[in-house]
Amino acid sequence: MATSLTVNGKAVTVDVEPEMPLLWVLRDELGLTGTKYGCGIAQCGACTVHLDGEATRSCVLPIGAVEGRSVTTIEGLSADGNHAVQKAWVALQVPQCGYCQSGMIMAAASLLKANPKPAKQDMDAALTNLCRCGTYARVRDAVRLAAGTN
Ligand code: FES
Ligand code: FES
Repeated sequence: MATSLTVNGKAVTVDVEPEMPLLWVLRDELGLTGTKYGCGIAQCGACTVHLDGEATRSCVLPIGAVEGRSVTTIEGLSADGNHAVQKAWVALQVPQCGYCQSGMIMAAASLLKANPKPAKQDMDAALTNLCRCGTYARVRDAVRLAAGTN
């Protein structure tokens, strides 16, 4: 079944089963492999993208529910890596292995869009992504840097 949506500002139509998770569509149909598969059950956040501007876990979102909506992946967050969150991530050298980091960045960007000066409890509530490398403290430092509250 054909589903039409916008991905990183471009209109796309994919012909897949409506139950296929958005994450599979992004990676396997559209070649956008920056978004990662971790758990497949909405627990880890590695697959986080923006759906109509809000952080969403794409591993459990059927493509049929995305008809007509707008998706932004890590590849589309900024034209040349100059989003405030990306710059803060580079400045503080946040990633270790990097596997979770596109999801972390997308979650952080969504948080700052909704709440430009998040308090610690706001970060704890919004940044529930898992990181096997334990970058949690640097993630929060980078969000503070991006927000100008460090
Ligand atoms: S892969 Fe989607 S939350 Fe873990
Ligand atoms: S940087 Fe390795 S899992 Fe987060």
